[in-house]
Amino acid sequence: MAILEAIDVTFDYGDKPLLSGASLKVNPGEHCALVGINGSGKSTMFQLLIGDLRPDKGEIRWEPHTTYAYLDQQMHVDMNVRAVEYFYGVYTDLFEKEKEMESLYLQAASGEAGYEKLLNRAERIGDELMEKDFYSLQSKVGSVVDGLGFSAEDLEKPMGLLSPGMREKAFLGKMLLEEKQVLLMDEPTNFLDPTQVAFLTQYLKNYPKAFLLISHDEAFLNDVADVIFYLRAGRISRYSGGYAHFLVQKEIDLAQAEKNYQAQQRYIKKEEAFIAAHIVRATSAKAAKSRRARLEHLERLDAPSKEGGEVHFRFPYSKGTGRIALTVKDLEIGYDHALLSPINLEIPSGSKVALLGHNGVGKTTFIRTILSQIPPLSGNFYFHENVDCLYFEQMVSIDLDMTPFEYIRSLYPDFDNTRVRSLLASVGVKNETAMRRLRELSGGEAAKTKLVPLTVEKSNFLLLDEPTNHLDKKAKDALFEAIEEFPGTVILVCHEKDFADGLVDYEIRFN
Ligand SMILES: Nc1ncnc2c1ncn2[C@@H]1O[C@H](COP(=O)(O)OP(=O)(O)OP(=O)(O)O)[C@@H](O)[C@H]1O
Ligand SMILES: [Mg+2]
Repeated sequence: MAILEAIDVTFDYGDKPLLSGASLKVNPGEHCALVGINGSGKSTMFQLLIGDLRPDKGEIRWEPHTTYAYLDQQMHVDMNVRAVEYFYGVYTDLFEKEKEMESLYLQAASGEAGYEKLLNRAERIGDELMEKDFYSLQSKVGSVVDGLGFSAEDLEKPMGLLSPGMREKAFLGKMLLEEKQVLLMDEPTNFLDPTQVAFLTQYLKNYPKAFLLISHDEAFLNDVADVIFYLRAGRISRYSGGYAHFLVQKEIDLAQAEKNYQAQQRYIKKEEAFIAAHIVRATSAKAAKSRRARLEHLERLDAPSKEGGEVHFRFPYSKGTGRIALTVKDLEIGYDHALLSPINLEIPSGSKVALLGHNGVGKTTFIRTILSQIPPLSGNFYFHENVDCLYFEQMVSIDLDMTPFEYIRSLYPDFDNTRVRSLLASVGVKNETAMRRLRELSGGEAAKTKLVPLTVEKSNFLLLDEPTNHLDKKAKDALFEAIEEFPGTVILVCHEKDFADGLVDYEIRFN
């Protein structure tokens, strides 16, 4: 019996059809992923599953009393609660039970009448706590908190003082600890560094209950998902047997669909030719009519169209920067105290460098320091005099009520409409999407919009902080190619090992 089911769901936002008869079924304990290109409707499907949106047709069915948790980008938490309390908040009822048990023991010890009854009750609570693993809570919380990169200092901070990325991780951590029957996670690795991705992978592999997650991270999908739901052209196909198997089987299925479609087209043409030739002949008109009736009832196959539009990035290059693009000497970075021991580096012009190190170690602080957004504590750094830097970060603050068109227009007021549209189109943001408000865009569509400035402004030194987040396979490949072809220097922070490994000449590791 399925724990969660979507049956023939049809949905659109009032313009083009998005889901048209999409179905999926999650069984208890099943580890599933929902995949598909940017804008195909995955996040929308999640909102339908949790009841934030209603299907136009079809049905969402949860097995009664099923508990679930949902991770998206906009979670709501009390900003005054300390992180440590937030995590332990999962077990409030158990802590209360423990208190009750202690007070029962105290009452019993005072020798009140009926102390045996009190002892019995206390013991029963003790058994229940044992059963619920109460005494290993500390190590359980500890492993999640460590695994997701929370330091002792972070744990003491109120949620409001954590960075948005850390808050997102707190939310993820709490969700893992709650052990609901179904976890719904929309791109859970986006805020994680490679070690944390490894932690989450391991945790999910051993997760005793069901989950359904959305991700574009292929290595992660390969490791955690046993069942793949593939959303394409409004419908969902189920593939059991892991992500690698899905990739192979999907190609076979697409080739078969193409073959069936071509065969049907040939058949239709042949029949139409027969009908046209015979419908007017007295001797064969009857046969032609019956064949026409048969053709009219034929269920026509849709052309297995190519998915999505083309995506292309090209980062215009300004000029050469000598032999060494950046020199860093005894640089100490941080706010009140140095985060790391003094940094010494020479980055040769044109090299592609990965910046590694767990979250919070100071990668962003380093980037901000060399961009002169934060003063160094000591030491210094100098760029070659010709260097033109461009910085890409996810968290760039944009007015979400603007459309991509208006956003690009606001950055480059001199560009005419056609130029703005074609810039957006080339990164895969089609006309209709370019006219939607940013807050309504899918994660991938918004990420592509934020990459546009890199394709406009000439530079020779790119600082890219998690540029692959939200991008689907096609867009990631296009980004990879653009970075590879860029003659300038690139510093890359990226949790997707496969992406960075193929690209960079060397690594700088902070720890
Ligand atoms: N509130 C809305 N109003 C209008 N269109 C919307 C709205 N929300 C989403 N869309 C559009 O619906 C489509 C599907 O969006 P959705 O967020 O479900 O995609 P997705 O599969 O999660 O993509 P991604 O991989 O980029 O996260 C997108 O083209 C998006 O622009
Ligand atoms: Mg999405």
